[in-house]
Amino acid sequence: MDKLLIQGGARLNGEVTVSGAKNAALPILCAALLAEDTLKLSSVPKLKDVGTTIHLLEHMGVKVNRQADKVDLDARHIQSLEAPYEMVKTMRASILVLGPLLARFGKARVSLPGGCAIGSRPVDLHIKGLQAMGAKIHIEHGYIEATTEHLPNKRLQGARYYMDLVTVTGTENLMMAAALANGTTVLENAAKEPEVVDMAECLIKMGAKIKGAGTDVITIEGVEKLHGATHQVVCDRIEAGTYMVAAAMTGGEVKLLNVKENLLDAVIEKLREAGAEVICDQNTITVKSDGKLKAVNIRTAPHPAFPTDMQAQFMALNTVAEGVSKVTETIFENRFMHVQEMQRLGANIDIDGNTALVKGVAQLEGATVMATDLRASASLVLAGLVAQGQTVIERIYHLDRGYENLEEKFNALGANVKRVS
Ligand code: EPZ
Repeated sequence: MDKLLIQGGARLNGEVTVSGAKNAALPILCAALLAEDTLKLSSVPKLKDVGTTIHLLEHMGVKVNRQADKVDLDARHIQSLEAPYEMVKTMRASILVLGPLLARFGKARVSLPGGCAIGSRPVDLHIKGLQAMGAKIHIEHGYIEATTEHLPNKRLQGARYYMDLVTVTGTENLMMAAALANGTTVLENAAKEPEVVDMAECLIKMGAKIKGAGTDVITIEGVEKLHGATHQVVCDRIEAGTYMVAAAMTGGEVKLLNVKENLLDAVIEKLREAGAEVICDQNTITVKSDGKLKAVNIRTAPHPAFPTDMQAQFMALNTVAEGVSKVTETIFENRFMHVQEMQRLGANIDIDGNTALVKGVAQLEGATVMATDLRASASLVLAGLVAQGQTVIERIYHLDRGYENLEEKFNALGANVKRVS
């Protein structure tokens, strides 16, 4: 298994180009199943989860042509309506094929995604929403068996559905299902994340009739069919936020290219509160810092509030900032796996339920730590960048799921990060 060796202490300076967003690319790749001709995508990041999704779609019969960040998908001839356990277990987002398969083919057999390190992550709202649209769904041998063959012309029926919790992929799954349903669907308490908006924009280019994406009420008027389109995936605000925190923690000046500021308001606000200078331009963000930061309180919540996917990164910042801070995680029940690893680096953190109390220390000490989930791994890289001496991060396959060319990008900014097998 690969490891990362990080020599701490370097200030980061220079420019870094932000890649396309993993959490927009995954649902948009699955949306290809809805079309009867080719969906042409660009800015698709080279990530393990993207590879897994493409592998799953090819397994179903989608013809995929991938060159660098370009991916063309042709779902004209689908042979299988099943997402098998072996594939779903490695990536929960495979659940995103359920809505499109049911909408276009009236049938789907998708393995229930297991939980993961950060929580049980049920998909009950995805299922309830599809049932509200008339689907007959039962769980058998760990698979979601869904059908619409009992419905008028075997199609999902538009419905009004209020989601108990804000769910990002739940909103995306139901939006895809509704795109080809009979009649109009209204999703209430919908997720407002930029990745949901980006996916809606792609569906609209494919012929879908969607209003309200980015607000908590999304209205989808079902159409007969969807056609192919060309779409550039929105930039990855979480990758961008990760590099911004790295620049603030190490001190230095880093300019991010291909990024939109309005996707990161809460993160920018917190970085400024911590004492970093953040300058936003058309599609660049520059972070300047002397590395001496003040601790900031963090409370995660659905967009536009502070994103849960940036919680671990700001925990790393707080471990070496001046003062005491509270980090509260309201989205997932077990998203503090990085805490015990940071304590190995000398961080002073106490957990009380879903809140961590962080007391800043003058310096972290390099040590061997273990990555447990994607964003926890990123936070350990950030801690390693400022720790004294060498930090070794094991199980970095977690990182490869969500960060394209991480060590190249950090080394180009002056860091000292080496991957060893
Ligand atoms: C998406 O996961 C992202 N993944 C996650 O990013 C992100 O952390 C999360 O949204 C929250 O922003 C992708 O987009 C591929 P949710 P998702 O459904 O959709 C509960 C990363 O690091 N819930 O919004 O799975 C759920 O347990 C990943 O890039 C139900 O109870 O998250 C959680 O507590 C990690 N029933 C809360 O809602 C459901 O049917 C929010 O989950 C669905 C969700």
